[in-house]
Amino acid sequence: MADTPKTATLTIGDTTLDLPIHSPTLGPDVLDIRKLYAQGKVFTYDPGFTSTAACDSAITYIDGDEGVLLHYGYPIDQLAGKSHYLEVCYLLLYGALPSAAELEHFETTITRHTMIHEQMHNFFRGFRRDAHPMATMVGVVGAMSAFYHDSTDISDAQQREVASHRLIAKMPTIAAMAYKYSIGQPFVYPRNDLDYAANFLHMCFSVPAEDYVVDPILARAMDRIFTLHADHEQNASTSTVRLASSSGANPFACIAAGIACLWGPAHGGANQACLEMLKEIGTPDRIPEFIARAKDKNDPFRLMGFGHRVYKNFDPRATVMKQSADEVLELMGVEDNPLLQVAKELEKAALEDPYFAEKKLFPNVDFYSGIILEAMGFPTSMFTPIFALSRTVGWISQWKEQLSDPAHKIGRPRQLYTGPTQRDYVDVENR
Ligand code: SDX
Repeated sequence: MADTPKTATLTIGDTTLDLPIHSPTLGPDVLDIRKLYAQGKVFTYDPGFTSTAACDSAITYIDGDEGVLLHYGYPIDQLAGKSHYLEVCYLLLYGALPSAAELEHFETTITRHTMIHEQMHNFFRGFRRDAHPMATMVGVVGAMSAFYHDSTDISDAQQREVASHRLIAKMPTIAAMAYKYSIGQPFVYPRNDLDYAANFLHMCFSVPAEDYVVDPILARAMDRIFTLHADHEQNASTSTVRLASSSGANPFACIAAGIACLWGPAHGGANQACLEMLKEIGTPDRIPEFIARAKDKNDPFRLMGFGHRVYKNFDPRATVMKQSADEVLELMGVEDNPLLQVAKELEKAALEDPYFAEKKLFPNVDFYSGIILEAMGFPTSMFTPIFALSRTVGWISQWKEQLSDPAHKIGRPRQLYTGPTQRDYVDVENR
């Protein structure tokens, strides 16, 4: 016998409503309020969406209390340790790990889309040299819709596929070009004989005057950073992409919107803000001063790289990132990097402080990533662009999933209105 559908009974004045409850594969039940306004003439109120599921999705599951992050069921620590970024891209796009032949075909397809239209080089030259690379990425990715007309029709599955491949393939090229432009060095074209992470390092650090050989251990660390940032359920930038997509906007415009949202220091911009914070702290003896500031309600200062809306135990990505930081810094011969010492001392001091324990604040994915990226030679301004190129596959996968649902509607939240009631216009001479 089919299970009796679960419902919740809501009484508003003399109206009683039975609202359906849906059960997920994993995680909490959801209360379906789609008919609440039609039947009850009330809205729910949830600024920041602390208790609101905006969609159903099969791609990523997070258990914030247990520190669990799964991509189509596979734990992030296993993917970071045993898989590689393009295989994770395949998993996120198609929902299954590829066969060897499928993986080879996918990697070849991505490799052969890494160049951007030569005329797009002119976009970079329209920016000041000191433009933040995130500004350049927002502009250039948005401009892709002006060059790749044959992959902007979202109603055509083949065009959605081509746009997905183009974005995943070209994002490292665009990020590397933004970096090269910012330091006044010539652009470096992608190479088809290098894997995804090695190609990115080569495009960033190669110069015409000498051969640049990518260190395979650095390439592996870079690839792991890409994997750790690939997707993360309905975070702010992914929700931005979904909302943009719901209006029928083309994929390049949607991803440009996601890049813009990720830029904020409360989100993807935290990796840059965290390293700048560690530099401001400078030495372990100044940690108590900054811990006190983070706890002071009158001080807007927060520990960057700490806290998370969902993780209330630990961020499993931070655990892997911390291991990677030790490996990369040892390889670079800077294992005694003062910033790493400050970061480790700061983490220890914060986790021993009741304030952070009570508020369940732990290091997140952005706490250690900046230390690795700086040791690799990237300026802090490139940290968030690297997050953006890594997250492109997550945005694209969620974008594809939303478009594949024939019932999806344009996103249009309501509000709690607090403005004036209706009043008549007053001519300026009578005000
Ligand atoms: C990412 O959503 C995702 O999945 C995002 C992400 C992804 O992969 O897409 O994981 C990537 O964005 C990670 C987060 C990077 N941001 C930072 O590291 C910036 C510093 N952290 C915070 O600003 C904050 O923790 C957020 C934005 C991450 C989460 O904010 P919430 O969930 O809205 O929590 P909140 O701001 O309401 O804080 C709860 C309490 C507050 O105190 P009270 O008002 O209850 O007294 O904790 C305090 C905050 O003041 N608090 C902090 C703090 N973070 C929260 N206090 C000091 N330092 C901090 N870092």
